[in-house]
Amino acid sequence: MSHHGGHHHQHGHDHHGSMAAHDHANPVDANRSHFDEQAATYDSRHGKLLERLTAELRSRLDFIGVDWDDEDEDKGGNGGNGNSAEPKDAQAQAENNKKKKQVRLLDYACGTGMMSRALAPYVTRCVGIDLSENMVAEYNASARNQGLAPDEMHAVVGDLADADRPDVLPGPEFRDFDLVAVGGGFHHFADPELAAVRLVERLRPGGVLLIWDFKPHGHSEGRGRGRGGEDEGDGEGDGGFLGPARHTIVHHGFTEERIRAIYEKAGAGTNLKIAELGAGFLFGNGHDVVDKEKARRSVFLARGEKAA
Ligand SMILES: C[S@@+](CC[C@H](N)C(=O)[O-])C[C@H]1O[C@@H](n2cnc3c(N)ncnc32)[C@H](O)[C@@H]1O
Repeated sequence: MSHHGGHHHQHGHDHHGSMAAHDHANPVDANRSHFDEQAATYDSRHGKLLERLTAELRSRLDFIGVDWDDEDEDKGGNGGNGNSAEPKDAQAQAENNKKKKQVRLLDYACGTGMMSRALAPYVTRCVGIDLSENMVAEYNASARNQGLAPDEMHAVVGDLADADRPDVLPGPEFRDFDLVAVGGGFHHFADPELAAVRLVERLRPGGVLLIWDFKPHGHSEGRGRGRGGEDEGDGEGDGGFLGPARHTIVHHGFTEERIRAIYEKAGAGTNLKIAELGAGFLFGNGHDVVDKEKARRSVFLARGEKAA
């Protein structure tokens, strides 16, 4: 794996983050090539973090507030316990299948699929989308390794947040989701406000938009520019963990205020809730991290519903 060295650029962020990519024309290209390169080692490099986030998500199913798939109920409903009548004919079988609850998850910026794997026991279908072809390949390899069929867990390459292309992946399999989850994606998006709008378009009415990401960090908290200044980090407060990832990061964390505005503008502000998952999440691995304390992040989990 090549190492690009820890160059220290000054990030000139504006509110749409268009200036963050140094080695590439835009953050999309920067993200694609960086995550293509990182895909094969992503899970082993971030194992501890992914484990912790998985546990945090599973302990907050009520907070996330989706009408989850309850496997046991389904088994009962299918007559597995002998209490319910077997369907008598094809029509009855079809009725029965229709009644079976579908809970569909869109895992956007899915990477290798941590969010999907964490929530798979509680949904009926996971659809991943990511910019990076190699991440998508890792996601699909992991789904296969778990013995899951493509109609249970499958990812494709795509960018729903492209300002010039509002018509990406238009098929019905990419619409009407019960839950759209974005794990660690928003700080990479050129325009988080636009991304949220596009993602909420993919929800069914009443569906939930779920985001985990960073709270403001790095220099952004120490400059006296107030809590509204979420984009001004210069990448030097990261303890060295970013290394070659530095040019993929457009936003150095999000204030609660901005997250609220993002949800409300996108039309998913109903029953909006934001929880802090705690501080001390360590990003990066031992090789990249120069100063572990500076590389620690506070992580929030936000959820809101599209108006029913
Ligand atoms: C830090 S990883 C998070 C992966 C995964 N969600 C997780 O929780 O482990 C960020 C991912 O966002 C993807 N990404 C960055 N910009 C994107 C965009 N505009 N559209 C889709 N995916 C994007 C990257 O390719 C990468 O896989």
